Amino acid sequence: MTDFSAAQQREYPWMTDAHVTYLDHASTGAIPKSSADVMQQFATLRHMPHMLKAEHFFPVLHRSRELVAQLIGASPDEIALTTNTSHGLNTAAFSLPLGPGDEILTVDREFPANVFPWIKRAERSGATLVRLPCVDEVPDEGALLHAIATRPNVKVVTVSWVSFCSGARLDIDAIGQACRARGVYFVVDAIQGIGVIPLNLTTTHVDILSCGAQKWLQSPWGSAFTYVRRELITRLEPPEAGWMSTKGSDDLYNMLTYEPAWFDDARRFEVITLPFPDFAGMNASLELFQALGMNAVSEHIAALGDMLVDFCDAHPEVRLVTPRDRARRAGVFAVQPPALDAASARLRAHDVVHSVRERCIRLAPHWYTTPAQFSAALSLLLG
Ligand SMILES: Cc1ncc(COP(=O)(O)O)c(C=O)c1O
Repeated sequence: MTDFSAAQQREYPWMTDAHVTYLDHASTGAIPKSSADVMQQFATLRHMPHMLKAEHFFPVLHRSRELVAQLIGASPDEIALTTNTSHGLNTAAFSLPLGPGDEILTVDREFPANVFPWIKRAERSGATLVRLPCVDEVPDEGALLHAIATRPNVKVVTVSWVSFCSGARLDIDAIGQACRARGVYFVVDAIQGIGVIPLNLTTTHVDILSCGAQKWLQSPWGSAFTYVRRELITRLEPPEAGWMSTKGSDDLYNMLTYEPAWFDDARRFEVITLPFPDFAGMNASLELFQALGMNAVSEHIAALGDMLVDFCDAHPEVRLVTPRDRARRAGVFAVQPPALDAASARLRAHDVVHSVRERCIRLAPHWYTTPAQFSAALSLLLG
């Protein structure tokens, strides 16, 4: 395991002496000091707005698109900045071509943000939303691949890369290939995966991917992004008409031409005005991830996951809901101890911050969680 202690002491000095073990990144990430500092500086500038300069506006967003693109193996012109995951999923649901008889395929137990837009789109287009059942609370990837290959009316597949409740990670390489082979659009909600598992969209085929940065990317609420595959951008009509989504709209001296020609890049899906301080904060967080190294972060979290698997093997009364294999999990670890509420109360009493979802205790550690902290938290699962 990489020793991240110097970065932890610099970016989270409060953690060094605190008794708190923060294992709730599946809900809300902890913002590093460098990001919090940038946001505080921004707050001061908003208090004295005459001090704001041009560099505090569009160059911040430009840098965000660049950093996100580097993180996920895309090009900056394929990145639309948004304020949450839901926005990108709505963009997908309401811009992809769908009509009567078409099928939108997903799996059961999806986070509602990736269900409601599709329910509504199905209602309005005459398409059908098909939710494939889970097995032992985990999406059945084999059934999904089979359905893509055999159901003739499937037009869109939309899934979470990593399940918010079971922690199961889907093989988006395999699903992307299957979709591509059938000419099916592939949409991914990546908020529970990016920041834990490296991603390279030059080799993984996804059409539209949406990700909030507030969890695993340890960035401010209000920072998020949507990737739209280059060849698709100009073929899709944005469902919302942003005042800055059209060519020439960045010329603020000349705003009254009302020429509705969308940008040829993913900015056509942006709805301005974006929260500049949040993106400035996100930029600091993404620079930190670059410095830490995504592979090292990923390996660290996977090794903590191995500890959990070993713990559950040694204590079979604690049911491991998350798949055992490294390739099928990320950073969301879901367990059902014998007395779940009591175990959760014990964790809380010992300042182990976690969440409970769908009758599972959800432990979600990150790069600064030490094996000693994680092991102490695991032992609290037993009375
Ligand atoms: C899988 C998944 N999608 C989406 C969200 C949140 O969506 P949004 O960023 O729109 O609030 C969450 C968590 O809150 C989630 O776990």
